[in-house]
Amino acid sequence: MAENFYITTPIYYPSAKPHMGHAYSSIIADFFARVKKIQGSNVFFLTGTDEHGLKIQRAAESKGKDPKVFCDEISVTFRDLSKTLNLSNNDFIRTTESRHFKSVENLWKILEKKNEIYLSKYSGWYSVSDEAFYSEEEIENIDGVKKAKISASDVEWLEEESYFFKLSKWEKPLLKFYDENPEFILPISRKNEVISFVKGGLKDLSVSRKSFSWGIKVPSNSEHVIYVWLDALTNYLSALNYPDISNNLYKKFWPATVHLIGKDILRFHAVYWPAFLLAADIPPPKRVYGHGWILSGEEKMSKSKGNILDPIEIIKKYGLDPLRYYLIKEVSFGNDGNISKEKLENCINSDLANNYGNLCQRVTAFNEKNLNSEVPKNISFSNTDLKILDNFKDNYNNLIEYTNKQDINSYVNYIIERLFASNKYFNDEEPWKKKNDIDRLNTIVYVSLELIRKISILLYPIIPDTSMKVLKVFNINEDKISFESIKNNNFLKKGQKINKINILFKKIEKL
Ligand code: MSP
Repeated sequence: MAENFYITTPIYYPSAKPHMGHAYSSIIADFFARVKKIQGSNVFFLTGTDEHGLKIQRAAESKGKDPKVFCDEISVTFRDLSKTLNLSNNDFIRTTESRHFKSVENLWKILEKKNEIYLSKYSGWYSVSDEAFYSEEEIENIDGVKKAKISASDVEWLEEESYFFKLSKWEKPLLKFYDENPEFILPISRKNEVISFVKGGLKDLSVSRKSFSWGIKVPSNSEHVIYVWLDALTNYLSALNYPDISNNLYKKFWPATVHLIGKDILRFHAVYWPAFLLAADIPPPKRVYGHGWILSGEEKMSKSKGNILDPIEIIKKYGLDPLRYYLIKEVSFGNDGNISKEKLENCINSDLANNYGNLCQRVTAFNEKNLNSEVPKNISFSNTDLKILDNFKDNYNNLIEYTNKQDINSYVNYIIERLFASNKYFNDEEPWKKKNDIDRLNTIVYVSLELIRKISILLYPIIPDTSMKVLKVFNINEDKISFESIKNNNFLKKGQKINKINILFKKIEKL
């Protein structure tokens, strides 16, 4: 039976227009959604916007706008970005939608009923930018300004009546849960971080605010709004029509397979979220993967530094697939990565234009000139041919393993290695010198076309547009791509027309 695979991105704050960091999380999630789809899984891929809380309320006020109007305007730029990035998301959720209100209110009522929530008073530090509470030890004084050590964002003192979630009670069950689910938090380095945070002792968590109104009201007390993180995290359930747990989406896709997030929001996803769910008797997600930061010139992007990278500008200049390829290949997944124009241009010239583009063009042009653009009919594989073709079959299980473990770099490295090997094969076999041995010439072309087909399937989750340009020439439609078919060495129908493939990537002229 086909596996059900549910992947989510963080839902983004529509406080300002999207930047490269948001694009990065979304592109990576799209990679996994697409690779799983062609591997035969039922995929549900969710993204969206996180629209409540003081951060958004203040951002709206600073523009003199009503928060809902403000969110409507910016949320649409995130929705548009998901189209520009060619995301294959099945849904786009906004926390201001009524389906989400229903879901959050329900979760709150369950927690209240199970006696997991009580009313008291909060006094402590709060960062509006992170929408997070910090203890005295987590704060530092920089030039007279109190900041959260972890994020360097300003904190303010807060004292107000608040509902609390009994987080302290979940310390041991959480540690047990991490122990029983050793791959719940990936990469492993981040898991250790989380475990030591939990072992350091968990305090009950303030889960409502009284001093502002932009949020979902506590069902039993309309003076309070629900803490924006409890609200936001629940989006992952709302999109599956929770609280209706007998519906198909929920039954198929909960618990989520992977919440893909940036490392900045690990604590919320790997500590608070499973604690809320365990307390409500809802199974926690199977995995939380915390990726690193995209840095701009060695630094974290920020409005104040003026180094925000706009994905739209880069796409306009270089195209979408080069950006997708670059982010997936050049950033060591799980770690921070620096984005530079020079490295992006190198990627386009060497990997995309020289390696992939050139292979497709050379082989199909040769086929057009010598074999009337038809898939050769008389073929007989030599040992060399079988070796290069079977490499995909031999590595099939590894490739599946890479995708299941979110080891995206090993997956890409395999493709690059195969591209080099395929170009080398075509060079070494010199079909242009085989005009007197037409069977051999036929076979070399057949093998080369098969290699292009297999590599294009592997590239599909990374550069879907370009890969589809090639696969269409092979008569393979998007909904028919089969990952498994990379094991097949005789996929192409003898005599089938294969039109010549034109330039896929223009090389960037370097001055
Ligand atoms: N709204 C919360 C998430 C709620 S999820 C239930 C939030 N939003 S955010 O707009 O600040 O987006 C945070 C996410 O965007 C990060 O976790 C990460 O996935 C992505 N990125 C934002 N800046 C980034 C980089 N510079 N580099 C890589 N990704 C980063 O937090």
